[in-house]
Amino acid sequence: MSAIASPAVVVRLSGVRKSYRVGETSVQALRGVSIDVHAGELVALTGPSGSGKSTLLNLCGLIDTPDAGERELAETNIAGRTEAELTRLRREKVGFVFQGFNLVPVMTVFDNVEYPLLLLGAPAAERSARVTAMLGRVGLGGFEHRLPDALSGGQRQRVAIARALVKSPALVIADEPTGNLDSATAMQIVDLLRELAHEHRAAVVVATHDERMTSHCDRVLRLIDGEMQ
Ligand SMILES: Nc1ncnc2c1ncn2[C@@H]1O[C@H](COP(=O)(O)OP(=O)(O)O)[C@@H](O)[C@H]1O
Ligand SMILES: [Mg+2]
Repeated sequence: MSAIASPAVVVRLSGVRKSYRVGETSVQALRGVSIDVHAGELVALTGPSGSGKSTLLNLCGLIDTPDAGERELAETNIAGRTEAELTRLRREKVGFVFQGFNLVPVMTVFDNVEYPLLLLGAPAAERSARVTAMLGRVGLGGFEHRLPDALSGGQRQRVAIARALVKSPALVIADEPTGNLDSATAMQIVDLLRELAHEHRAAVVVATHDERMTSHCDRVLRLIDGEMQ
């Protein structure tokens, strides 16, 4: 028996296929993809534009459904789940970070980060403690009352990262999170994501077509034309 348990599989896809109908034809975005992502690792998902990265992230994050194949998230088999069950799993287990930050512009930094905890029905004292700690961790202590407009791109992405991690999700998916940032800021954001993956024991999957990012990640997966290389 091994003294060191191997890290838990947080998300597992097996033989997943996905196509989109476009008029009379269909585009095969994923042609039988299998991946495992473990707790505490930052995995880069690379590949050219159109290779299927966003499609794969959306399937991992339960915001789309495959045509074929198996999915497992946090030890739950996804097949046959109702919409309500999927929504609950997504709210509890998945944090999202996007290229365009997707912060609510009329809400303060604090309120943006608090929002996922409101959806989960967390008590006010717990919400406040978690938001304050998370904002401190991403270097935005003291920015609670600002609006997103008053922040730089890198700061906005830190708010989005705090929002994604505040509920301690099993999985964080980040779709081109550095696409709108200069390269120095982009590297800092990837380093922050990696540190948080390790600290929170979260599985973090980052889609990027920027090969410079990959040296900052724990593992690299490459998609070409909807197939894993
Ligand atoms: N909603 C959609 N409708 C039609 N085709 C789509 C849709 N989303 C993605 N595709 C197609 O699926 C393929 C994979 O796209 P995507 O997953 O967005 O790749 P990536 O994120 O690597 O750029 C591409 O050919 C793209 O044009
Ligand atoms: Mg994409």
